[in-house]
Amino acid sequence: MPKKEKPEAAQASMNMEDTGSVGEIAETPTNPQPIPENITEDQANQRILDLRHQIEYHNYRYYILDDPEVTDAEFDALFRELKALETRFPELITPESPTQRVSVGGVVSEFPKVVHEVPMLSLSNVFSPEGLGEWNERALKYLDKRFDFEYTVEPKIDGLSVSLLYENGVLVRGATRGDGITGDDITPNLKTIKSIPWNLKYRDGSDDPIPTRLEVRGEVYMPISSFEKLNKELAEKGEKLFANPRNSAAGSLRQKDASITAKRPLNVFIYTLAQMDGGPDLKTQWEALKFFERLGFRVAPDIKLCQDLQTVSNAVQNWIDRRDKLDFEIDGSVIKINDFATEDRLGFVGRDPRWATAYKFPAREAVTRLLGITWTVRRTGTINPLAVLEPVSIGGTTVKSATLFNIDMIERLGLRINDPLLVKRAGDVIPNVVKVMDERRTGEETPIELPATCPSCGAPTTRRPDEDGTNDPKLYCTNDPYHCPFQMKDWIFFFSAVRGVDGMGERIAHRFYDEGFLKDYGDLYYLDREKLLALDRFGEKSTDKLLKQIEDSKQKPLDNLLMALGIPHVGVKSAEMLANHFHSLANLEAADVEAIASIKGMGRVAAQSIVEFFQNENNQAVLKKVKEAGVRTEDPIEEDGGPKPLAGKTFVLTGNLVNYGRKQAEELLKRRGATIGSSVSKNTDYVIAGAEAGSKLTKAQQLGINILDEDAFTRLLQD
Ligand code: IVH
Repeated sequence: MPKKEKPEAAQASMNMEDTGSVGEIAETPTNPQPIPENITEDQANQRILDLRHQIEYHNYRYYILDDPEVTDAEFDALFRELKALETRFPELITPESPTQRVSVGGVVSEFPKVVHEVPMLSLSNVFSPEGLGEWNERALKYLDKRFDFEYTVEPKIDGLSVSLLYENGVLVRGATRGDGITGDDITPNLKTIKSIPWNLKYRDGSDDPIPTRLEVRGEVYMPISSFEKLNKELAEKGEKLFANPRNSAAGSLRQKDASITAKRPLNVFIYTLAQMDGGPDLKTQWEALKFFERLGFRVAPDIKLCQDLQTVSNAVQNWIDRRDKLDFEIDGSVIKINDFATEDRLGFVGRDPRWATAYKFPAREAVTRLLGITWTVRRTGTINPLAVLEPVSIGGTTVKSATLFNIDMIERLGLRINDPLLVKRAGDVIPNVVKVMDERRTGEETPIELPATCPSCGAPTTRRPDEDGTNDPKLYCTNDPYHCPFQMKDWIFFFSAVRGVDGMGERIAHRFYDEGFLKDYGDLYYLDREKLLALDRFGEKSTDKLLKQIEDSKQKPLDNLLMALGIPHVGVKSAEMLANHFHSLANLEAADVEAIASIKGMGRVAAQSIVEFFQNENNQAVLKKVKEAGVRTEDPIEEDGGPKPLAGKTFVLTGNLVNYGRKQAEELLKRRGATIGSSVSKNTDYVIAGAEAGSKLTKAQQLGINILDEDAFTRLLQD
């Protein structure tokens, strides 16, 4: 669940006096309330307490529930007002004030040592369903038990384990695991993490007693998106990069100056109860997790309670499948026997509990060597580097190449031929290079030279910032696609993919170009069946399938055709706007820059680019072929802009959809007349919940709102 980053002031404490229910929180303006000149200390104190209360509440909504009720600007206004009051009345500053979270501990020369009263243990590992079965058998046998246990299945967060000790609800000590017996006291550093509560209280408003003594454990980690951002910043400053989110979390947490830790976007998931006095009688791990949530701790999402081993395996598989979509690194899944009494009876073998195990997932990183660079030329003329690697096995797959995205990457990584590289493979996508393992350099490394001429057509290359919004410097071929074979091949592939001609994969598109069957994408509609059948590996079945896809593509709506043309600056959204506005290719071809730029949301740069595209004689010739082939170039005009079956209905989207981008899903709904809401309330008609849906889904369930999963959403669009 990638989170947006809050502005500096907004990153405050969530530990104040009693908060209350939502109803008690006042309206939140975006400018700080002016402080009256003649305010007394008493009045200031009242207001300070009120502000701390509000800030703490909104922090909880933001960092723990992931469901903010106020905007960052509104939050900032509260924070600034508190700061202003505390500046005027410094004697009212208390250590628990949210303004103090950023710089409490000062600088230490050495971390004090902590002896863990309950040792922090490790876990045995299994690597397959069979291994899991064997672990289960051993536990069953140990207890002479004939039936399965009940289990929790949790993600195994790849970070650093920490212990948090609370006395009478107040965080008194935070420590690292160390060797499991003795760790480091890093309280000031841990206190900078916004999702670690300083004071405990029941978030459901209950006045049950708070434990007099409570030690919980969890994993501190750095979100992947934050890690990537941090590494980018370090590279820009020419500093050493972190190898992975775990190392960067470790490096950030072990800072002797807690104000540096405060600047690092660390987060935590709590997963274990180490000891407790004076709290409820918790009998299971599941109850403990729910208890943590009640107390305002952050607990990993989607933890499952399973009644048998098959369900455990399914839950583990689910984590494997989702691994690449998460914003935190997991290196496995932790399976724990749910019942604490059973845990006690099972005990330990050495340092590993018999009652839990880690199901480890395949490694995704390896170190290998850069043998060279191949340069590929894409449709838009960019010349991109691909790293050729000494083959290395990562998680059972041999990896021979890795993407480098663009020349900027070569410079940022300081890459040289022969460099030892850390390579990461996530999912099925092509692996990428994380960093150079500087310390393993041998002195045999040589600089990488950027090609002065295009590897496809030999035209000179040029270097300029990308116009895709990233502004990254890129290398370009100075020829156009009609004079540069690689560009045209990629265009044909792009056109086919957008038109839904899946049979025209990259390799086939290139081959057809090389065979002379396709000189441009217009030729797609004139492929000769007999010639295809004469090719190696082109049987009747695959040939006819391909030709049918091409035939079917002729009927696609106008926005799809406009998108497929690959006009610079025209993406999905603008293609749709152009189609809605002009209704036919002929109308668009006849339009001038003014007419196009007058469409709301359409920029002048795009308008200019469209006009130039249609003025180009080569493009005109290809489009002529397209039109003569009978390709649909018009959309029927609907008086009211199409049927609006969802008019009057409010939808809220949460989680990640596999087949739709968030914006795209919203657009599809809006086109059908729906209204999109940002938070769930009783006025919401439907919640569309993708993977990793969070508190919005919970709220929808509580309010009894219709919940649609992705399949149901797809069906709704088809109705
Ligand atoms: S339970 C006695 N639960 O994995 C076992 N550990 O290899 C206590 N870890 O040191 C650990 N996610 O750093 C547990 N959901 C989770 C975990 C988890 C990550 C780490 C933890 C521990 C290591 C054990």
